[in-house]
Amino acid sequence: MARNITLTIIKPFAVQNGYTGGILGKINEAGFRIVAMKYLQMTPKQAGQFYAVHKAMPFYDSLVSFMSSGPVVAAILEKENAVEEYRKLIGSTDPSKAEKGTIRQLFGKSIQQNAVHGSDSDENAEREAAFFFSEIERY
Ligand code: CMP
Repeated sequence: MARNITLTIIKPFAVQNGYTGGILGKINEAGFRIVAMKYLQMTPKQAGQFYAVHKAMPFYDSLVSFMSSGPVVAAILEKENAVEEYRKLIGSTDPSKAEKGTIRQLFGKSIQQNAVHGSDSDENAEREAAFFFSEIERY
């Protein structure tokens, strides 16, 4: 299978608590290559656009507010079968249900503050990667 990409965001709570290094360490150990990475704070409008697919959900406003509350680390990760492999590495959306040793189990606090985002399909990975990075920011 061809190498492909996924998009991750280390969320504000995890950045504020100093988990960035630990999370990047797990990503490196699992064999992902970093194609692009940046440290930024989204505006509420940008966070709303990123999560537009969840607009109808009851947690949307709170998610947008949380995701724009502080700086995040966004990165494109490359590996064979990247989307599925990364979802395995991060574990279930709810950290209390995430498998032992997964990033969300180790660093997450709640469903919303679940340490990291990971793309859920190849199509969304491409769309989400393009949201943060232009072609000349990818190596
Ligand atoms: P993420 O992978 O960033 O993608 C969408 C986010 O919505 C998800 O992680 C969670 O942080 C959040 N989310 C999903 N379900 C719920 C829920 N039931 N309550 C609150 N937040 C949720």
